[in-house]
Amino acid sequence: MRLSPTVLSIWHSVSGLLATSQIEKDRTKGCVVGLWKTEAFYSDLGLVYADEPAVIIDEIDDPSFSPYQKTVNKPGIYVFEMKLENRKCLMDLPVAPTQPKKVSTKSLEDLVGEINEICKTFRKKDGFLNFKGIHKQNILENLYHFDGPTMDEIKFSRGKNFWKTEGAQIPKCEKRSAKKLSYEEFRHSYVERNKPVIITDAAEHWKAFSLWSKKYFLEKLDAAKIHVKLGESGVFEGPEVRNLWHDAAKNKLPEKLTEKLQFPDLVMARPGHVQLEINKIFDLFQTTLKDPVEESWTSAYIEYTPMKSSNAFAILKPDVPEIKKYFHELELHHQNIWIGDGQTLGKMHFDEFENGLIMIKGSKQFLLYDPRDNRNLYEGHIPEAKFEIEEEYGEYKLIRNGLQESTSMVMAPVNVLDPDYVKFPLFKNSKPMNCTVGPGEMLFLPSYWWHEVQSFPDLDEHLNIAVNFWYEPFFSKEFPCATCPLDINPKYFDLL
Ligand SMILES: *[C@@H]1O[C@H](CO)[C@@H](O)[C@H](O)[C@H]1NC(C)=O
Repeated sequence: MRLSPTVLSIWHSVSGLLATSQIEKDRTKGCVVGLWKTEAFYSDLGLVYADEPAVIIDEIDDPSFSPYQKTVNKPGIYVFEMKLENRKCLMDLPVAPTQPKKVSTKSLEDLVGEINEICKTFRKKDGFLNFKGIHKQNILENLYHFDGPTMDEIKFSRGKNFWKTEGAQIPKCEKRSAKKLSYEEFRHSYVERNKPVIITDAAEHWKAFSLWSKKYFLEKLDAAKIHVKLGESGVFEGPEVRNLWHDAAKNKLPEKLTEKLQFPDLVMARPGHVQLEINKIFDLFQTTLKDPVEESWTSAYIEYTPMKSSNAFAILKPDVPEIKKYFHELELHHQNIWIGDGQTLGKMHFDEFENGLIMIKGSKQFLLYDPRDNRNLYEGHIPEAKFEIEEEYGEYKLIRNGLQESTSMVMAPVNVLDPDYVKFPLFKNSKPMNCTVGPGEMLFLPSYWWHEVQSFPDLDEHLNIAVNFWYEPFFSKEFPCATCPLDINPKYFDLL
């Protein structure tokens, strides 16, 4: 039997010969099960995997065109796992071929079991989904879909200590009390649905609420050098025009790259950073409200800062223990601390983590967009730029000099508070949700949700403090890929 043209091109892409073929762009997951000089189980496998898009069964009639000629030598059944296209790299690197796995041909049951294992499928030998497969399918069909007014109907503005809308109101996210929310319900209704929720009293036992103050930090952190980010007028990591950067003429993008970028005229401005003692950082914090429209200033923000044994913040960990009740089944990656003056704005991005964020002082308004269709958010690669810092008599100035070769893959190129609908017409259709967390509250921010975050200070010390926990995501998603759906992260298959 000859390979059909489709199978042939998939075969080529599996074997690394046609790394950038259209087929591979459309189908980046799954397996080809190839039978070499054997008829055994051919028709059985065809039936078992007839409804399984991730597995293609075919006879190999001539393996000599593939780089596997040395490995496909004995008659038998070989499983070729399809390599994911390397979306993270913009260069046309060929996809490295995977080694085929020769599978047992003792019984159909064993064979199906082995193929399921390699191809991450859940078929029984009668072709139906097994119990885990049905559970997985139910979860993916039951994902939360947020609905509400579109950006087109909402008018935003950011001013002195406010973030407001004229026009339609933005729907608020759900709030629950920990006293009435069991772990089972949390997992089923929020984690497995990829749905945000605020739990109002999940961290009541934390000592941080009574202990943490400027004085306490000065004592505990003392002279330790702390990594602090510096951003312009409170904005951290936003999209900007490339030509605003002094080195734009010198650092032109190679043409090959320009062709691949959706918006080659934009860069993602990353904050600069310095290492300072906590008292110096507090000196940089604003204690009066600034007007981001009328004024410009350099803001300091301890953000995305891991609390780990190698840095000063480890000493504060006993004050903010993990919320085990809700997260004991997920794998913890990082615990981060966020300390600012409550006048910072984190621009729209998503994280590849399940996130539990607990507000300690001040509040944060999260503007969220669900990741069901990221075309509206223009998910893609955006070249990065990093502010250079100039210090003079303890004053820090940010200089736009520092275009990078790297790209960001998790930031939106749209400025959500002032969208350019000519450039980003689809953004009009996107629907924001407002999740505002105050002291003591925990936001469960599911993986891949886009978020723009405005902080507000507390009244007595003008501080904004939060701690968050990042967990291995329950879902997986290829990115940047605006249309790739969520799937279950294979690391959690044992939870199905
Ligand atoms: C979001 O909700 C908070 C309170 O829950 C409200 O104070 C704020 O004005 C809302 N923000 C927007 C932009 O609608």
